Amino acid sequence: MYTKEEERELQQLTDRLLKLVEGKGKEFFSSLSKEKARELAEDLRKVIRYHDYKYYVQASPVISDYQYDKLFHALKELEEAHPDLITPDSPTQRISPAFTGEFKKVKHYAEMTSLDNTYSPEDLREWDRKVRELLNQSEVEYIVEPKFDGASVELVYENDLFVRGATRGDGIYGEDITVNLKTIRSIPLKAPFSKCGIELISVRGEVIMPKSVFKKLNEEREREGLTPFANPRNAAAGTIRLKNPAEVAKRGLDCYVYQVLYSKPKELCRDIKTQKEALTLLSDCGFKTPPIQKVCRGIEEVIETVLAAQEERESWDFEADGMVIKVNDICAWEKLGETLHHPRWAVAYKFPAKQAVTKLIDVVWQVGRTGALTPVAILEPVEVGGVVVSRATLFNPDFIKSKDIKIGDYVIVERAGETIPYIVGPVVERRTGEEKPIEVPKNCPVCGAPIVKELDEAVPRCPNINCPAQLKEHLIYWGKVLDIKGLGEATASQLLKKGLVKSIADLYYLSKIDLLKLPGWGAKKAQNLLEQIEKSKGAPFYKKLTALGIRHVGEKTAQLLAKRFKNIRELIEADFTTLSSIAGIGPITATSIKNFFKAKQNVEMINRLEEAGFKFERSSEEEMERELPKPLEGQRVVFTGELKHFTRKEAQRLVELLGANPTNSVTKKTSFVVVGENPGSKFQKAQKLGVKMLNEEEFVELLKKYSDLNPEVKEALKEKGLL
Ligand code: IVH
Repeated sequence: MYTKEEERELQQLTDRLLKLVEGKGKEFFSSLSKEKARELAEDLRKVIRYHDYKYYVQASPVISDYQYDKLFHALKELEEAHPDLITPDSPTQRISPAFTGEFKKVKHYAEMTSLDNTYSPEDLREWDRKVRELLNQSEVEYIVEPKFDGASVELVYENDLFVRGATRGDGIYGEDITVNLKTIRSIPLKAPFSKCGIELISVRGEVIMPKSVFKKLNEEREREGLTPFANPRNAAAGTIRLKNPAEVAKRGLDCYVYQVLYSKPKELCRDIKTQKEALTLLSDCGFKTPPIQKVCRGIEEVIETVLAAQEERESWDFEADGMVIKVNDICAWEKLGETLHHPRWAVAYKFPAKQAVTKLIDVVWQVGRTGALTPVAILEPVEVGGVVVSRATLFNPDFIKSKDIKIGDYVIVERAGETIPYIVGPVVERRTGEEKPIEVPKNCPVCGAPIVKELDEAVPRCPNINCPAQLKEHLIYWGKVLDIKGLGEATASQLLKKGLVKSIADLYYLSKIDLLKLPGWGAKKAQNLLEQIEKSKGAPFYKKLTALGIRHVGEKTAQLLAKRFKNIRELIEADFTTLSSIAGIGPITATSIKNFFKAKQNVEMINRLEEAGFKFERSSEEEMERELPKPLEGQRVVFTGELKHFTRKEAQRLVELLGANPTNSVTKKTSFVVVGENPGSKFQKAQKLGVKMLNEEEFVELLKKYSDLNPEVKEALKEKGLL
């Protein structure tokens, strides 16, 4: 892609640009002449594109993340100051804010067929025999690539620009997921195909989730109580169809490109006669191509290659379910043609499935750090793809029910890449009638608290915040929400290990002598923590409610609760109907709150906290704020675009003080939308729905009108010089 000479120049340019943008802000970029700004934008894009390539395609970055961020940030500010200079292939355009969430159906430039499968060296020899016969050759040259297990996509480049990307769909029509594919950094937004005379090209590749990324994502999902993905393929396929490009961008997807589907002019480039050369062209144009692309003379060398790959594949960071063998000579492809569904010039060799059958002896329930109970199958030990497995996950009770799995069943166990082994399903034919149903326990296996089920979740949970399985997580969260400096992960671990804290309430009974028992703690550190803990007693009521970590009760919901109930007793006694009738609180949250207080362990802890002087009631400031008139009571307000005078947060706070409810999406129920500069898709939505809109001036007028009613609003306007 880049010659040594070009790399050297790009590195020099990087250094120059880093120096140039150092410490520069918006004013600097605005002050540039159009010409200078254009030149700088082009230079920044050139180097960012280069560093993207080094990082995402070659995995060998040459600058630090910090330096990269500086360049990226500079380009963003420059483009903000000169929006007319933004180009569709600018690295800043990877996340499209204006996406409305519908994928169009599109026709592929050529059919995306699938491959025929083979499962043994014998099958491969048989396939080779047919190929040789059809080509009338005694030996054929093949190329062997991994068979990536992800989601197949078509990428279209017109005049070097990435203009469209689609899912495979039924092979003829797919869904246009360009907005999501643009967020994948190994897919170039610009690729120099025109250098070899190509005007338009459609290439095929596979979007995958690296095994390492997949492992982290699933850990995170489990922590959040979401069902983990079964394997990296499902994770990749699910992610590229998300209706939120910003979320896709966070998921760490990658893309390997392995085939030219179509090009204009049709004869690619006179030099490209083989698949190997096609891959080289793709690689030269900045794509990530298969890390194995071995040219083999004859089928025996192919067999050696695929068997070696089968041994090595555990060490790859991508999941492969086999290898693809293609005839290397592209001219031969036409001669060989296709059957109804598959080309004759390529075939897949599938690795033996990493599956085995064994007996499910028992099910134990594991309590996660958020209280989620996960059923774990205890198995008669069995070898699955070279590893002895005696435990496997059953995900959640819904999974058990849908697969009708019973204790005593023979079950199919599968292991995919880095995933923990899981049960695919029972072998119903081997049932004896002795099998027993799997029951969800009534009480937490760790602390004994009665198990609850939230309305929206498949997982049962232990609601006890002081359950030993969960206490550490809750302690850290408590420290974070109530701003107790020094109560982080390390301290939480130490307190638990020494047995000083068995419940959150114990924090408020700690003495200096206790803390001095902790390794590495001196008088000063102990004193500081005690002071911080003491200070937290003065936190507002809503913060204290937030700190309880009740599911679905974040800061915003806690504010609603603190407005409605003056202390925790009233909240504990509130019934489901009262709770769910509060605007902004639905049945899911209401159930979750009821579940929390149903656990007597939680109520006991609250009693002990209150005895220690940690009162769950409105502070005098909160009372005062409540008494103030609320002229915008019940109104739903949405902000879009940038405001000159306020940050988004400030503006939201101001309307909140006046009683309104700031929300993020425009619906028919929205009372009005405040439109700043460069508004996003919310503006169009508001127009479509005919929702009332205010510009910044009108918004300021509205605030001024009510400023006498609320001292904080008045103060804020004065501070901004608006009053
Ligand atoms: S070539 C018609 N090469 O495997 C030939 N396919 O049924 C086009 N796949 O979903 C496919 N890695 O998306 C080819 N190196 C590779 C591949 C590959 C994965 C996928 C393909 C399709 C399935 C084959």
